[in-house]
Amino acid sequence: MNPPGAAFPALRLRRLRQHPILRDMVRETTLDVGDLIQPFFVRSGRGVRREIASMPGQFQLSVDQLLQEAEAVRNLGIRACILFGIPESKDAAGSPALRDDCIVAQAVRALKRAVPDLVVITDECFCEYTDHGHCGILSKRTGRLDVDNDRTLEILAQQCVVHARAGADVVAPSGMMDGMVRAIRAGLDAAGFDHVPILSYAAKYASAFYGPFREAAESPPHFGDRRSYQMDPANSDEALREVALDLAEGADVVMVKPALPYLDIIRRVKDRFQVPVAAYNVSGEYALVKAASERGWIDEKRIVIEVLTSIKRAGADMILSYHAREVAEWLREAKS
Ligand code: PBG
Repeated sequence: MNPPGAAFPALRLRRLRQHPILRDMVRETTLDVGDLIQPFFVRSGRGVRREIASMPGQFQLSVDQLLQEAEAVRNLGIRACILFGIPESKDAAGSPALRDDCIVAQAVRALKRAVPDLVVITDECFCEYTDHGHCGILSKRTGRLDVDNDRTLEILAQQCVVHARAGADVVAPSGMMDGMVRAIRAGLDAAGFDHVPILSYAAKYASAFYGPFREAAESPPHFGDRRSYQMDPANSDEALREVALDLAEGADVVMVKPALPYLDIIRRVKDRFQVPVAAYNVSGEYALVKAASERGWIDEKRIVIEVLTSIKRAGADMILSYHAREVAEWLREAKS
């Protein structure tokens, strides 16, 4: 029956909400384990599993432990991971990142041998490797001490080649240097790695949501902040310019980061450019959920699924998330 006085035919959206199967049949967005990319922090040693205080359930792992984790997530249906390295030593130019036996290269080699069907993405940046904690080489070229864009491009390309040589399937530059995709593409091509795709952190904001990651990766800047290279959270048009440039330079996948506070950016990018879009559900987003859940203030499982579904609904094709493993477990339970 139509509501009294309503124009005919009355719209009754609740009809399709009454039955769980019907709800399921009209669902527009489904979160799939295959959408998720698991981040890992790797450091030297054996048997090391150091929990990160502000990211409960996440660890700094030595390579042997990483292999166990990687196999477990692969067995749960997760198809890709991204690696962050914590080196034994740091210097002003981040040179520990450029050695063929750097911690990330070691991890990639071991992973490709032990779990070959897990796609390995390597984060390409220098903040974990510089003693000042900035994302590249510093200079006073502009009158103040800042990351020197073009000198950093040279070492970024070298870093990508080191990772590609170790067997990385995808390189993911996250330093927000101008021209980084072009420089990396040229460097990879010249070294014979023209088949290795670039997932560019194209629209990466200068966000307070990275706090826990900087503890995890031991990478906070020792002075100042990252606002001279990462984007102003107030800007949206600029994100489209960043993405357009990275695509013109040869990016294969573009990323928006963080995810939840920037769903509008994900949507604009997806609407404007019909290319694969990744979103990074970052450390601070994870920490908020974990902290509230530890206090019993929220239903963690429902919140996580809702958050990740909203990121996908906004237009992300793939989601980097510290929740990946537990979500894969929940999705498996739901199926069985
Ligand atoms: C490296 C990098 C950062 C993150 C990913 N790559 C930190 C930063 O830019 O300070 C953050 C990821 C997270 O918070 O989960 N540049």
